[in-house]
Amino acid sequence: MEFSKLIQERKSIRGYLNKPVPRELIEEIIEVAKWAPSSMNTQPWHVYVVTGEPLDRIRQGNSNNMMQGVPPKRDFPMKEQYEGVHRKRQIDIAVQLFDAMGIARDDKVQRTDWVMRGFRQFDAPVSLVLTYDKYLEPAAISQFDLGAFSHAIVLAAWERGLGCVINGQGIMQSSVVREHAGIADDQNIMICIAMGYPDHDFVANQVKSVREPTDGFVRYVGFESSVQA
Ligand SMILES: Cc1cc2nc3c(=O)[nH]c(=O)nc-3n(C[C@H](O)[C@H](O)[C@H](O)COP(=O)(O)O)c2cc1C
Repeated sequence: MEFSKLIQERKSIRGYLNKPVPRELIEEIIEVAKWAPSSMNTQPWHVYVVTGEPLDRIRQGNSNNMMQGVPPKRDFPMKEQYEGVHRKRQIDIAVQLFDAMGIARDDKVQRTDWVMRGFRQFDAPVSLVLTYDKYLEPAAISQFDLGAFSHAIVLAAWERGLGCVINGQGIMQSSVVREHAGIADDQNIMICIAMGYPDHDFVANQVKSVREPTDGFVRYVGFESSVQA
């Protein structure tokens, strides 16, 4: 698929067919994605590809802890609350998803059900848990590298007819993920990527998130003078 079409067509998938993803296909996706750039070519990523019973145990442990009010535990400091325009965009995508799902603002049961789906990684058949070596902390640059790698994964998956949602909800209880995915103590868990064949009848999968007009976040500097020169 042409790259510009691929990157604009891809979207997060939050409903999956109950169909296993062949391991060879995941291997192919990772082979492609590893060509992502990284700081000084450090390639600081590790991937734990989890399916079957271990993934079910992660879903269960993550959901149980979250429902019992165990405070979320991530492996690095995170911003608790977005503000201003970031908060607005966060709300906008939630509204798009709830509208698609027909979930009313005051429907606590359905809203909780939606949040629970997130804690279960939307019941995807596979989860790729991305980690980096703990010693890299403070790891902003390595985290940036894992971001580039993640985008490459979701694009390579999309190109092959697979959908993904990069998701933080599924790893809110990092000790649960660590235990059931067998993640070494010298690793920090960055994020997980739920992956599977999209269920095209699942209405939230129709949602297309929006992007800001480009001139709102780009400043061209020095171009006028170079034109004059
Ligand atoms: C770091 C990261 C964490 C995310 N966590 C979640 C999540 O926990 N639950 C969820 O439904 N979507 C999650 N998403 C998906 C975003 O909501 C989504 O990428 C964004 O709304 C843009 O939509 P698009 O991916 O369809 O273009 C996450 C995305 C990223 C990059």
